[in-house]
Amino acid sequence: MSRRAVYLETFGCQMNELDSELVAGALARLGYAFTDSPDAADVVLYNTCSVREHAEQKVWSRLGEMAVRKKLDPALVVGVLGCMAERDGVDLIRRMPVVDVMCGPGELDKLPGLLDNAVRTKESLAGDDAPGVHDEPGAGSPLRSARQVALQGSASRRSATLAAAEDNLELLDLSRSISPIDSSEGVSKRSAYVRITRGCNKFCTYCVVPFTRGAEVHRPPDHIVEECRRLADSGVVEVTLLGQTVNHYRFEHGAAVTVGGLTQPQKGRSYKGGHDRDPFAGERVTTFADLLARIHEEVPGIQRLRFVTSYPRDFGDDVLEVMRDHPRICRYVHVPAQSGSDRVLAKMNRGYTIGEYEEFLARARAHLDQPEIGRPLMVSGDIIVGFPTETDEDYEATVGLLRRARYKNCFIFKYSPRPGTVAFDRIADDVPEAVKRRRNNELLAIQSEISDSIAREQVGREVEVFVEGVSKAQQKREGLTHGDIRKAGGAITLTIGGRDPAGNMDPGHGAVAAAEPEGDTTAQFSGRTEGDLIVFFDGPSSARGSLTGKTVRVRVDRADRLSLHGSLVEPQGSR
Ligand code: 5AD
Ligand code: SF4
Repeated sequence: MSRRAVYLETFGCQMNELDSELVAGALARLGYAFTDSPDAADVVLYNTCSVREHAEQKVWSRLGEMAVRKKLDPALVVGVLGCMAERDGVDLIRRMPVVDVMCGPGELDKLPGLLDNAVRTKESLAGDDAPGVHDEPGAGSPLRSARQVALQGSASRRSATLAAAEDNLELLDLSRSISPIDSSEGVSKRSAYVRITRGCNKFCTYCVVPFTRGAEVHRPPDHIVEECRRLADSGVVEVTLLGQTVNHYRFEHGAAVTVGGLTQPQKGRSYKGGHDRDPFAGERVTTFADLLARIHEEVPGIQRLRFVTSYPRDFGDDVLEVMRDHPRICRYVHVPAQSGSDRVLAKMNRGYTIGEYEEFLARARAHLDQPEIGRPLMVSGDIIVGFPTETDEDYEATVGLLRRARYKNCFIFKYSPRPGTVAFDRIADDVPEAVKRRRNNELLAIQSEISDSIAREQVGREVEVFVEGVSKAQQKREGLTHGDIRKAGGAITLTIGGRDPAGNMDPGHGAVAAAEPEGDTTAQFSGRTEGDLIVFFDGPSSARGSLTGKTVRVRVDRADRLSLHGSLVEPQGSR
């Protein structure tokens, strides 16, 4: 029997990108192949996002397209993974009968088995709607067809009972297939995400994440360090640690539970950080600062260590000191403020005032902003405009914050009411769409000026650049597009959706393989500074293999709106 081809599309955040990678690895081990064309796929999977309505609408429209296709090809298997599966649950399957398999983020460890079953069932029944063949509905609700499989519900607040149960999700993370050659592109993978915390306990009133991803759970530090080591051994040089409130990481060794010889992830504890060190840090507790230092020291192959997303409160000096004293930790933080108005922040249940937020920014800059040695601190943020009851005065306070914070980049979102959240239930969405749009556009324009001026400040400086490969423009010049590479190598690419809310590039798409065109002496390369500024520079065409994935020094000659342009500094020495 031929290998079944899977098309996997990912929406939303980096956490979803990582989930997709893990699911893809598990499916590959079961013998599935991957295709970048949904039309050529036997199995179409959408890893979905529920953070804003817009992201959900995109998935609904994709499902509509698949419903049309399925009429012609009843053997097609369609799966919805991730947050929409968790949030909409069985309702989604009823509304969209095209869906065969639905799997929330807390159940992804079971997906390969479910999918295999669904595919086999389809194949053996050739489209027959036979009942009882595979009936595992979630939440006890009857599904439209007994062939449909819905698994959801256990992500929500799953850690309440975690201590007693073996955490299979941890096994999914541990099972990560790490190979020196990324099968999708025939090149070594240089950048990778590593999850350190799942879920969130903050319950910001607008946000679905605590409901879709469940309670905060911290992975054992040994597992994280080992994963980083395996990645580094396979050629990864840039690791981004992931967590919804990543700086909240804390693992108490005395309270660790072991099941079947495996240390289990641990529920988040309500430790209040702040400026002070955790009195139990060290042997009994691994704090976030300890974890960063451990990875830095124990995995020297990682040239760049970064983390997203930070929560503004509880960001202790201990973390800032570790960042300052460990040169391979990037001086970059993504710390969303969400609003510049204390009144709105309180309604959002963010747990800090703007005074406290700015105190943190000042403290972080005092520790880490050293442009004179080419290491400025770069900060990025998120803002929501049009949160219910937001007045012109509140909005002006946000404008003030945006100007003072001087983010390298800031994602501005229009408030999107999400069913199930406190804001949805209790506060009317009373800011008119036109006002939201105007505020959104104004903030975008202000941020664009700020990003511009930060880029211009870099001119004349020497910066360290992590080289991602030849630039897209160079690829175009050479007629070497991503699609060509795929075709040329007959390789398969997971379709992973571009930039995430934190503004980072999809790592899989930065590095470029390949065939070197003859007679070309210089090529344009692209890469990023540790502060996540995009840099273009020219280098010898023949050096693309040796420069990609390396850190080089570049003198910045000019800046345009979104990127820096410079030249290689000789001789090269790296930290
Ligand atoms: N509406 C608009 N933006 C939201 N975010 C989270 N929930 C919502 C919502 N309901 C934004 C926040 C968060 C980012 C990932 O998405 O700014 O930091
Ligand atoms: Fe959502 Fe707030 Fe948790 Fe971030 S900290 S995931 S915005 S609830």
